[in-house]
Amino acid sequence: MSRKPVIAGNWKMNLTHLEGIQLVQNLAYHLDSTDFDKADVAVIPPFTSLRSIQTLIEGDRLDLTLGAQSCHHETSGAYTGEISPTMLSALGCSWVIAGHSERRTLFGETDEVVNAKVKAIIAAEMTPILCVGETLEQREAGEAEAVIRGQVTGSLAGVSAEQVADLVIAYEPIWAIGTGRTALPSDADGGCATVRATVAELHGTETAEAVRIQYGGSVKPGNVAELMSQPNIDGALVGGASLNADDFAVIARFH
Ligand code: G3P
Repeated sequence: MSRKPVIAGNWKMNLTHLEGIQLVQNLAYHLDSTDFDKADVAVIPPFTSLRSIQTLIEGDRLDLTLGAQSCHHETSGAYTGEISPTMLSALGCSWVIAGHSERRTLFGETDEVVNAKVKAIIAAEMTPILCVGETLEQREAGEAEAVIRGQVTGSLAGVSAEQVADLVIAYEPIWAIGTGRTALPSDADGGCATVRATVAELHGTETAEAVRIQYGGSVKPGNVAELMSQPNIDGALVGGASLNADDFAVIARFH
């Protein structure tokens, strides 16, 4: 089955809205319609940049898509400091990251919390990018596969096969995030294969073959082509390199 690649740049807590506009304008110089025919390309800025970048994308009719780095699972209410999925949808977001390892480790997001967010993102008619991945200690203890299986299963509880087929799952080994220590392509593909096998166990082979699985963790212009040549890797969730328009454009044009 051919799956359209999806390349997303997670800016994390970087760039003011003015710097974000500059980055997207620079990115627009590099990418054209043929690139967007071959892959879905998304920028995922801080919340403070969403409106200005949406305006830029719509005004310049860019095929770039917009995402958010997280959201609350409720649509409204007394949740000071939180952002509703329906607010993100109203701002033109197509994607929302759920369960990034930094949310899980720094902010205590459990599989149950992530599962509620996945369902809320789908209900708001956006596509979740569900993040899973093991720590170095878990890998060295031989627990990586079990951790990945547990996170996929827990985060997708109650999500239908049809809904799973349409979402994106990002395998991000925590020890490769922000370290410059990219997983070997075979290890990256192995992690993505474990994700796909878990989806097959949950929802059957057809759904597993349909779901798009990204690799994330020190993806750079110099390693993206080999990573994307792996059979189970359908895209990349890019952190540091997405803050540089030249680098992210090379990654988005990996083919
Ligand atoms: O969400 C993507 C991020 O975790 C990867 O970061 O800097 O290793 O590309 P980086």
